[in-house]
Amino acid sequence: MRHSNTCLEHTPREGRSVQAFAPGRVNLIGEHTDYNDGLCLPFAVERGITVTAEPAPGAAIEAHAKDLGERDSFELGAESAQAESGSPEGWRLFVRGASAELRQAGIEPRACRLTISGDVPLGAGLSSSAAVCVALCLALCEIAQASPPDKVPLARLCSRVENDWTGAQTGLLDPLASLCGERGRAVRIDMRGPELRPVPLRLRGHLLAVLDSGASHDLSADSGYNERREECRAACRALGIDSLRDATSAAGLPEPLDRRVRHVLSENERVDATVAALEHGDLDEVGALLDASHSSLRDDYEVSVPAVERAVETCREAGALGARIMGGGFGGSVLALFPPEAQLPPGAVRVEPGPAARLL
Ligand code: GLA
Repeated sequence: MRHSNTCLEHTPREGRSVQAFAPGRVNLIGEHTDYNDGLCLPFAVERGITVTAEPAPGAAIEAHAKDLGERDSFELGAESAQAESGSPEGWRLFVRGASAELRQAGIEPRACRLTISGDVPLGAGLSSSAAVCVALCLALCEIAQASPPDKVPLARLCSRVENDWTGAQTGLLDPLASLCGERGRAVRIDMRGPELRPVPLRLRGHLLAVLDSGASHDLSADSGYNERREECRAACRALGIDSLRDATSAAGLPEPLDRRVRHVLSENERVDATVAALEHGDLDEVGALLDASHSSLRDDYEVSVPAVERAVETCREAGALGARIMGGGFGGSVLALFPPEAQLPPGAVRVEPGPAARLL
């Protein structure tokens, strides 16, 4: 892998409070390909989640989700126990899961008080959940005076927290993007490996912006997201392959599996076409590829909803060269590319590639 794999400089700080920051991400293109061993092109954004950890006496972790005004506490080693509010859910599962999965990976979390806050909107498709998980892991490792796992194993650990603790069968796209971000660059990820290659995001004055559709997306256990994953597994079984990366055509598959596979195959091609268009400075082509990705996600993969269609339309009416649904789908944000002279529509937020997760 050409990207540095080592996570962070580690200088243990005994007895002091520590802070870790993990960015959210934008995925330029390559949607619903990560769990099919495919290609994607994300970048970390400036906004993210900050976790402050302060060593505490005893054998418990106390956590405070500042923006939500909610608290949780649990004994180390008893992460699955009931929360005061009943069965742990939502953000509490990330804290408990991170603690348990780190222990499983050989890093023994220590008693501490955690404060979680952030400026990445929740449920808007900018991957607040992976950012929470990455920031928690970095803070918990630092408090435990342990080096965090390298980037790929840490991304896998975060993915296990989402998969096994929250029930969302998400892939490696979000934690890898948060851990491997670089200012001014996106990263082409080939999930087979994974292999990561930085791609300079030379936009020649054009702007990338996200517009929240207002429909909160849900990737939890019984979501459409998990249903799509199951459809991909069913297509693999029908084709006699382990991964859709090995599929060459959707021919002969029953409907809707044929369309699901067609999306994955065409989206992988669009990722490399986008990398090439960026290299050639052809921003019109990047816009056209975003539009093509959106059509494929709407018609073949069927992850759009009316609020998202309206947000895409709003961006196009404001002069976007291309716009598409981003992230897991069924709501969340739209990503659009605007020419240099365009006025962003109300509510749209400019996004630029920022640095990776780190200790502050
Ligand atoms: C969500 C998941 C990712 C990825 C995208 C779709 O963001 O967390 O793993 O599958 O959806 O590309």
